[in-house]
Amino acid sequence: MKLSDNKATISFSNGTPNFEVPVYAGTIGPDVLDIRKLYGATGMFTYDPGFLSTAACQSAITYIDGDKGELLYRGYPIEQLATRGGDFLDTCYLLLRSELPTDTQRKDFHKLVTMHTMVNEQMQFFLRGFRRDAHPMAILTGLVGAMSAFYHDSTDINNAEHREIAAIRLIAKMPTLVAMAYKYSIGQPFVYPKNNLSYAGNFLHMMFATPCEEYKVNPVMERAMDRIFTLHADHEQNASTSTVRLCGSSGTNPFAAIAAGVACLWGPAHGGANEACLQMLEDIHAKGGLSYVKEFMEKVKDKNSGVKLMGFGHRVYKNFDPRAKLMQETCREVFAALGVENDPILQLAQALEKIALEDDYFVSRKLYPNVDYYSGIVQRAIGIPVSLFTGIFALARSVGWIAQLNEMIGDPEYKIGRPRQLFTGSQRRDVP
Ligand code: SDX
Repeated sequence: MKLSDNKATISFSNGTPNFEVPVYAGTIGPDVLDIRKLYGATGMFTYDPGFLSTAACQSAITYIDGDKGELLYRGYPIEQLATRGGDFLDTCYLLLRSELPTDTQRKDFHKLVTMHTMVNEQMQFFLRGFRRDAHPMAILTGLVGAMSAFYHDSTDINNAEHREIAAIRLIAKMPTLVAMAYKYSIGQPFVYPKNNLSYAGNFLHMMFATPCEEYKVNPVMERAMDRIFTLHADHEQNASTSTVRLCGSSGTNPFAAIAAGVACLWGPAHGGANEACLQMLEDIHAKGGLSYVKEFMEKVKDKNSGVKLMGFGHRVYKNFDPRAKLMQETCREVFAALGVENDPILQLAQALEKIALEDDYFVSRKLYPNVDYYSGIVQRAIGIPVSLFTGIFALARSVGWIAQLNEMIGDPEYKIGRPRQLFTGSQRRDVP
């Protein structure tokens, strides 16, 4: 970051001396006011509980232009990464190492990840401690945290080699763990990874193969799965990434920090929105589908109802989320490959979107479909159960979390995160 020639001064009417605020500029996007010395100089904090106007770090990984609806991974537009050539592992390489891989680097990286897809056999006994109906995100929160009990040679976050192998292990093993959670929930045997399959193909194989017959990966589903992974890989300082950074800032091991990210992503306002969105669509469908839409939308616009149009709205995007457009295109490809025309849930989603985009309640608040609006419909078409949608989001986001965590640890300015507060409780008082 570089000092901007723009100057800022905070002045106070109570005689507190003016505070000259350094202004820094990044390569693109808003400048920042450096308030690190504000408290020392004025005895005052800034106040921004939802971090609406706060940059918690500097980062070179992902950039979002919310007004344009633009998403860049290391400068490359998501539309190009999701549709041109490469696969999710190329995006992983890019996020972790800043550049797209050469052919040799690509081959080596794919092989490195492939050689780490199995998990320690003991992990299945940990998994078997859960009830069969445990939510996959409860299982994943446990399994990812438990990785720190199995992989002691990659737990020192201050050791660059440990960070590198932890990144490879997380990318490689998340599909295996997510598939194991699924198989466990349906009472089927776990399926081991196959080294001759692609990353996405291997995941589909571990999810849907059984020992009873040969499972053939459908190339359209494989491509759709790979695109879903790429679209979810990273997204600036969202709630779960900020959780990973704050957790990792204490020096804890990478697996514990990523487990904290999994737990945060689970929430319906964040990664859990894809599950909540599909449940919302199925609920509307059950109540009459298009004939119920008008009544449903009135509820959404009624503040007291607590009903939201799940999959709509975003803290940063005030235009279309580019991932939502790509996800809708993937919907069409998957349904065409399945020979499904006029899927009622997709039709309902498109009708709701059309109504919302013409309704002042949504237009005035700049509420557009986000990544979660169509991702559930695609996953449902592939045969993935609703409860596993957020687990797949976590699988894909693991590379973003670990890239952001490693960037923080490598930042000479980083220190343990410790926000302050505006105290509104009791003055000092004595126990009677
Ligand atoms: C993800 O941060 C990221 O990058 C996240 C993510 C990623 O890749 O990591 O992109 C993934 O989490 C996407 C978001 C998934 N969540 C949902 O789809 C849940 C539904 N959306 C909302 O809960 C909401 O839009 C948020 C949480 C996504 C954003 O909330 P903000 O930025 O805090 O905005 P807000 O709640 O203050 O909303 C502003 C107004 C409010 O109305 P007013 O008080 O101004 O009258 O818009 C309304 C809100 O009530 N509003 C909605 C709405 N979203 C916002 N009203 C109805 N339905 C919605 N979905």
